[in-house]
Parts: sequence; structure tokens; C-alpha cells
Amino acid sequence: MRVLVAGVNQGLGLVLSRLMAEKGQTVYAGYRNKPSDGVLEAARRFAGFKMVELDVTNEPMAAAVSQEIARDGGNLDAVVVTAGILADSDRELPVTGIVIDDLRAALEVNVVGSAIMKTLSPAG
Ligand SMILES: NC(=O)c1ccc[n+]([C@@H]2O[C@H](COP(=O)([O-])OP(=O)(O)OC[C@H]3O[C@@H](n4cnc5c(N)ncnc54)[C@H](OP(=O)(O)O)[C@@H]3O)[C@@H](O)[C@H]2O)c1
Repeated sequence: MRVLVAGVNQGLGLVLSRLMAEKGQTVYAGYRNKPSDGVLEAARRFAGFKMVELDVTNEPMAAAVSQEIARDGGNLDAVVVTAGILADSDRELPVTGIVIDDLRAALEVNVVGSAIMKTLSPAG
């Protein structure tokens, strides 16, 4: 299996990508900006854990990652998107207290980002 996981710097993405690499799968591990210590450690430990810089909201970056994966030997079998944000205001405030900038940021990553990632999936 060749799988892209987007949002691996921490949380579910890091756990999932590590587990798959540990089981011998090829994992393209998409981190944002700067790889976390957990990502760097997994890359040192597992041959199949391949780091790729990937902000899910960045279409040119997604296209470059897609080309990099194609050059590396072929198509993906699956794309898993664990990248996501949940603002403090979304956790703590009632819907009437919504912070518009937080809503925009959440939509950009959680909705638009997922749609951009869908362009990388085997289903297209
Ligand atoms: N954990 C749960 O029990 C649970 C339950 C239901 C739903 N969820 C949802 O599942 C998703 C993952 O949960 P989690 O607990 O793993 O969250 P998390 O610990 O907050 O991790 C989210 C990851 O997404 C990355 N990320 C954010 N924006 C990104 C972007 N534009 N491009 C690439 N990566 C980006 C973060 O990177 P940085 O570290 O670089 O910011 C971080 O690595 C979230 O959407 C969460 O709301 C989680």
C-alpha cells in the first residue's frame, strides 16, 4: 500500500502514519511548515515513512507533492486527511458568539483543504 496522510505533525495523523510505516506500508507523511520531533523520529526509524511538506490549503504545494509521489514510483492507494483545526472559540462559545475569523480559518482548512486533498486521491 502507498498512502498519503495529510496533517502528521501531531495527533491522529502522527499515530496513524507511524503505525502504517511500522507495518511496512509506504507512507507519504504530509507535515505543515516544520516537521515535529515525532515526524523526524518516525522518518529516521521507518524506511517507508517519507516526509513531504504539505499545507492542505495550498493547491500548488499539493500538485508538487502529487508529482513527487508519481516520480517516486506510482500512484497512491489511499489519501487520509487528518489535518484539521478547532478554534478555542468553537469549543467554548455558543453559536451566537461565533468569531468570524475563526470560522473562516476552520472552513479553509477543514473544508477547502479536504477538497484540495481529494484531488490527490486515487478516486480523483
Ligand atoms: N482526536 C479526536 O478525538 C477527534 C475526534 C473527532 C474529530 N477529530 C478531528 O480529527 C482531526 C485530527 O484530530 P487530532 O486530534 O489529530 O488533531 P490535532 O492533534 O490538533 O492535529 C491536527 C493536525 O493537523 C495539522 N494541520 C492543521 N492545519 C493544517 C494545514 N493547513 N495543513 C496541514 N496540516 C495541518 C496540524 O499541524 P500543526 O501541528 O503544524 O499545526 C496537526 O498536526 C481534527 O480535524 C479534529 O477536529 C478529532
